Amino acid sequence: MDYRNKHILAPMVRVGTLPLRLLAAEYGADITYGEEIIDHKMIKCERRANETLGSVDFVERGTGSVVFRTCDEEKDRVVFQMGTSDAVRALAAAQLVCKDVAAIDINMGCPRAFSLSGGMGAALLSKPELIHDILTTLKRNLNTPVTCKIRLLKSSRDTVELAQQIERTGVSALAVHGRTILNSSSETSATSVMVARGALWNASIFCAKGKSSWSDVKREYLRKSILWDNDVKSTKHTLKEMIMHYSSLELAEGKAVIKSETDMDLAKLYGEEEYYHLVNINRP
Ligand code: FNR
Repeated sequence: MDYRNKHILAPMVRVGTLPLRLLAAEYGADITYGEEIIDHKMIKCERRANETLGSVDFVERGTGSVVFRTCDEEKDRVVFQMGTSDAVRALAAAQLVCKDVAAIDINMGCPRAFSLSGGMGAALLSKPELIHDILTTLKRNLNTPVTCKIRLLKSSRDTVELAQQIERTGVSALAVHGRTILNSSSETSATSVMVARGALWNASIFCAKGKSSWSDVKREYLRKSILWDNDVKSTKHTLKEMIMHYSSLELAEGKAVIKSETDMDLAKLYGEEEYYHLVNINRP
């Protein structure tokens, strides 16, 4: 995979599932990251070809819950992002999924307590040896490109030093959550740009001709969620994030999304019952 001059959908927990990734790509995103999935969870999964949807599902044994869903259409551009604190476990998880995705990414930027307490995410940033171990183990054993995503350290000197250490492991790309600097400015010489919140609020941000209206994007997102049988909790969460940005959860639409329990409830709310029935009638 070539990472130069690309527009990239950033990884987003509970948001970056198949419907948003496909939608972002339809609008012009070249590379789309999935939400972070923890290696512990991934290694409990088995790969299943879902004949009804035409997807490939990684399903947790015991609970039957779909941990990661992808499809052929995105195979050349989807990046599987993983949370890990252990090279052997990361490799086991990556080996399960690597033939179905374009690259494997390690999250080294997440500051949430859950990640830090498990030694994952940003906790890795203070452990360069572990970073080296994880990335070189993946590189040595996989034919799939390996990348990672970091956030800025306290000083730019430390950040550059870490970036150079990471570069020496032979990763295919390094994403930096720059916070106060522009990712693709001439100062950083980055050629590609990754977008998270802008794409969550309106995925047509990737469209070269300009953004589509929020209501159109929302409708397309809902249709894709219905088509790919997205977890309704993820669909609701994403719609709520959009509504919080453009409107308010206190108004009628927000309240109705919160109250919705099924795809059908959401379809009714947005006048998409006909689409819902069409999709479901045609399913074997
Ligand atoms: C994120 N971010 C994130 N980062 C990551 O590496 N893995 C993840 O799973 C998530 N999850 C996530 C969820 C949500 C709802 C948001 C808003 C963000 C961080 C994200 O990828 C990105 O680095 C930052 O949001 C900064 O980019 P923007 O939002 O300024 O474009």
